[in-house]
Amino acid sequence: MKNLLNKTTEIAYQYLSTMNHEKIQVSEESRQQLSGLDFDLQNCQVNADEVIDNLNKLVSPATMKMSSSKFFGFVIGGSYPVTIASSWLTTVWDQNSGLEKTTPATAAVEKISARWMLDILGLPKQSATAFVTGATVANFTALAAARNLVFKNAGWDVESDGLIGAPELHIIISEESHPTVYKSLAMLGLGRNRVTKVKTDDQGRINMQHFPEIKDNTIIITQAGNINSGACDPISEICDLAAKKNAWVHVDGAFGIWAKASRKHEYLLEGYEKADSWATDAHKWLNVPYDSGLAFVKHEHALKAAMAITASYLPSENADRNPSDYTPELSRRARGLDIYAVLHHLGKSGVEELVDRCCECAKQFADGFTQAGYEVMNDVLLNQVVINFGSEQANLAIMDAVQKEGTCWVGQTHWKGITAMRISVCNWQTNQKDVEDSLSIILSIAESYKSNKA
Ligand SMILES: Cc1ncc(COP(=O)(O)O)c(C=O)c1O
Repeated sequence: MKNLLNKTTEIAYQYLSTMNHEKIQVSEESRQQLSGLDFDLQNCQVNADEVIDNLNKLVSPATMKMSSSKFFGFVIGGSYPVTIASSWLTTVWDQNSGLEKTTPATAAVEKISARWMLDILGLPKQSATAFVTGATVANFTALAAARNLVFKNAGWDVESDGLIGAPELHIIISEESHPTVYKSLAMLGLGRNRVTKVKTDDQGRINMQHFPEIKDNTIIITQAGNINSGACDPISEICDLAAKKNAWVHVDGAFGIWAKASRKHEYLLEGYEKADSWATDAHKWLNVPYDSGLAFVKHEHALKAAMAITASYLPSENADRNPSDYTPELSRRARGLDIYAVLHHLGKSGVEELVDRCCECAKQFADGFTQAGYEVMNDVLLNQVVINFGSEQANLAIMDAVQKEGTCWVGQTHWKGITAMRISVCNWQTNQKDVEDSLSIILSIAESYKSNKA
């Protein structure tokens, strides 16, 4: 076993130490070689070393170098080395972390992680925390708690009696909400279409001039960090309006919530702690390995009512925090450990430095494009930059050429009626030099596109 683990460490080190210098693309040749993985399952055992060698030989070259310091697609972070190490230990310990009684160590670590997270994000101390797989499930989990309490206040027990015959429930949502939020609504039986969409301003924030009257029995879904512009909804104002009704305000803060960890950027989320629930990812801006997201719910009883298991054979009624009382899963990985590790490693100042550096890099990108005469479509207040090179055709051609060149990776988005280039900076390694090198490639591709067209 020792040889196997040492070999794997060597492979991992080799991969990580060369990653930032490699092309960010999957070559056709590596893609073709993946077929070597596909054979009829043999009838004998194969040595573990051989299995790992085979995976490394065929899979490693075909991986997209998403953790590279110059990967700017989607909103994807990397993994701090300390979290790769903690993730290995989590696997080694192999704790089925649903129940405190049987896995006290990981339950204790997650309890501390939860407290640290509430502290760094400036959320109410009493909030309950669920460690889930990502923001999609975090939104689902928080909205399940919302569904519980709003219905309970209307005299209906949704967990026992379901939705058939329930009182009417209203959903108010931004027209620029992330598509996964609609998926959560569908999974909760609330429907993708039974929503009132609120118009947004030029940065994708909910426009309060168009905000509908809030009726009783309403769930309002806001956003901290628009997927294109990074802009945050006027959450504080919405919470004040909702306070007078049987209404719940939820914040989808998959990446934007991290503005709160920076003294320079926290103003974007002033008053957001008045909401009832929040969702975020740790595998984005906090740079822990997949899959890691968190739901925070101010009303612990509502989250537990929605999530706790009451089967008699499970020791749920113990004194301490039983992790599975808060999550959709019973059996699960102790994913809160990586969060503990990275927060212990960075402290508040380290997280703030990460957030500020990424935002500065985004600004550097925006300045570079503007100075070269291209349109930056958003106010760059956080880590997102949307660029228009003049036409949809130009944007698509330039993005394609940048991806083929491979020094950096940029993605596309459709925003304000046009397909444009979107750059997102949230990797722990990204620095000024990465931005300079990437800008230089993107701008030279854009210039040759322009001169070829002329
Ligand atoms: C605002 C927002 N909400 C939800 C999600 C879904 O997150 P995940 O893919 O981690 O489930 C994303 C992903 O980019 C997002 O940006």
